[in-house]
Amino acid sequence: MRIGIPAESRDGETRVAATPETVKKLVAAKHEVMVQSAAGLKSSIPDEAFVAVGASIGSADAVFTAEILLKVRAPDQAERARIKPGTVVIGMLNPFDADNIAAMAAAGLTAFALEAAPRTTRAQSMDVLSSQANIAGYKAVLMAANTYQRFMPMLMTAAGTVKAARMLIMGAGVAGLQAIATAKRLGAVIEASDVRPAVKEQIESLGAKFLDVPFLTEEEKEIAQGVGGYARPMPPDWMKRQAELVHERAKQADIIITTALIPGRKAPVLISEDTVKAMKPGSVILDMAVDQGGNCPLSEPGKTVIKHGVHIIGEGNLAALVAADASALYARNVLDFLKLIIDAEGKLVINREDDIVAATLLCQGGEILRK
Ligand code: NAI
Repeated sequence: MRIGIPAESRDGETRVAATPETVKKLVAAKHEVMVQSAAGLKSSIPDEAFVAVGASIGSADAVFTAEILLKVRAPDQAERARIKPGTVVIGMLNPFDADNIAAMAAAGLTAFALEAAPRTTRAQSMDVLSSQANIAGYKAVLMAANTYQRFMPMLMTAAGTVKAARMLIMGAGVAGLQAIATAKRLGAVIEASDVRPAVKEQIESLGAKFLDVPFLTEEEKEIAQGVGGYARPMPPDWMKRQAELVHERAKQADIIITTALIPGRKAPVLISEDTVKAMKPGSVILDMAVDQGGNCPLSEPGKTVIKHGVHIIGEGNLAALVAADASALYARNVLDFLKLIIDAEGKLVINREDDIVAATLLCQGGEILRK
């Protein structure tokens, strides 16, 4: 097959969907790989590194004629106009963006959104949400620590003792758990909260304290189990009790990292303006959900603002700030996904009976397959 790797055009996107490691494997499997000139530069991969493993380097026009395009983000309007009908596009295409799916269907693309893969053991090696959230959780702690004007660990010095930073982590999915692990290495004292009771043990095994908001009704308990491992919106009464507890804990916290998401919906508000007002001057909030509406209403996408004396970091694409490793892991996810849709003879075979194929396929032959 002819496989193309375009340069990403979206602002702030530094990742690339293939690396010399994955291109080498594609070339060994007798595919023809063309990489757009400079596509890997922001991930520290020069064109020569792709050439060295058998890829060719081409212009955007040339790359977009490939039969399979490996992307990080969904093609925008200008990119779509370049892609011919029938082309397979694989990337983090946002399965909840109905307008974009309709546009890709109208352009006749066969589009796969890797974020929509089920959270099953077989899909683990192509789980882009996990590979990227893991990096984002790590980087969130480093960014917050960088903005925080004090030490993270407890220190005893000749000039006196420095207290350890107190950190509150809201949402203990993949990103939140990595944030706990990273903050622990830096010496912070950590509390973490989640709706899903199953994460209590995971939080505690990483050395953090679980902030428990007990369930008072069977309905609360049932909703908190989530669906397919994901959270569902909790009833208002539980959210109110959570907010009261968070308000109290936030007063003590030096750094809060929020990671709470509900797939396909606006992120839940967990840190209200009143809670921000109650926080200590110089404390830091990093809102990882800023691009999904924010866990804190005061955060602004792509900016660090100071509100009521609190630094609020609104960085939605943290994985892109660790570009080389984010690309390396993402490219491996993409390569594993390709193995699902290319047979042993190197031909494209889209088996809609396969659960991973069925979940990720957004549109094919003009038909929208994901509503
Ligand atoms: P996510 O990015 O969708 O959400 C982040 C976290 O926010 C979740 O833990 C969620 O429960 C939490 N959250 C939502 N509303 C909240 C609220 N009001 N207050 C506090 N926390 C709230 O989650 P992610 O990281 O994508 O993980 C989703 C699930 O998938 C997890 O159960 C994870 O263990 C599971 N998973 C399974 C894999 C597998 O079996 N192959 C691989 C990776 C993850």
